Amino acid sequence: MMDGFLEAGACNLRSLQPRDAEAIFRNYASDDSVTRYALWPTHTRLETAQAFVYEALERCETGEEWTWSITAPDANECIGLVSARPSGHKAEIGYVLGQAFWNRGIMTAAVSCFIRWCFSETDLNLLWATCAVKNVASSRVLVKVGMEQGGILRGWHVFPNYSDKPQDCYVYTLLRSAT
Ligand SMILES: CC(C)(COP(=O)(O)OP(=O)(O)OC[C@H]1O[C@@H](n2cnc3c(N)ncnc32)[C@H](O)[C@@H]1OP(=O)(O)O)[C@@H](O)C(=O)NCCC(=O)NCCS
Repeated sequence: MMDGFLEAGACNLRSLQPRDAEAIFRNYASDDSVTRYALWPTHTRLETAQAFVYEALERCETGEEWTWSITAPDANECIGLVSARPSGHKAEIGYVLGQAFWNRGIMTAAVSCFIRWCFSETDLNLLWATCAVKNVASSRVLVKVGMEQGGILRGWHVFPNYSDKPQDCYVYTLLRSAT
């Protein structure tokens, strides 16, 4: 369902490929400033990124998750990912981008494009996302793509690279009917 290529303006989205592991490791997974609010420990070995890509491709195959690589408009290298985990009529979306590419509108373009794809190519009725209250840039992206901020989920996630203590998160939603 998700083979292909999407033009998103400030970036492109294409299917995740096994050879993306090296760029994923180099561009963001080994960078503590990017993984600060990730749910997984910073990668210290390329093999960890390779295992992640292998498992992500398996989840794409089974439909458990859809993951797209983000690329710069003029290049094919993976600089980040955007993904969704469907569950019935709804799916949780997540995203990450290499620090060298921050603050150029890339993630806003990528998530907007991904939302359009989700509502045009699937039957989903609701997209949702969480982000740490302290993750100001991520909150900003979710607002800019048109998602609605709900309440605060107290102590929702532990971000292992940040603290052992569960952190408060915002929840954001977007109904198909609102697009
Ligand atoms: C969050 C993230 C995806 C943003 O990607 P990006 O391509 O830089 O996002 P954009 O450029 O589209 O938009 C970023 C917005 O945040 C704002 N911003 C960035 N850093 C900020 C800060 N420290 N304080 C306030 N606003 C900030 C930018 O000004 C911009 O808003 P504006 O257009 O109104 O000026 C990226 O920083 C990232 O991958 N972080 C690490 C992984 C992560 O946190 N993922 C999300 C988990 S929920």
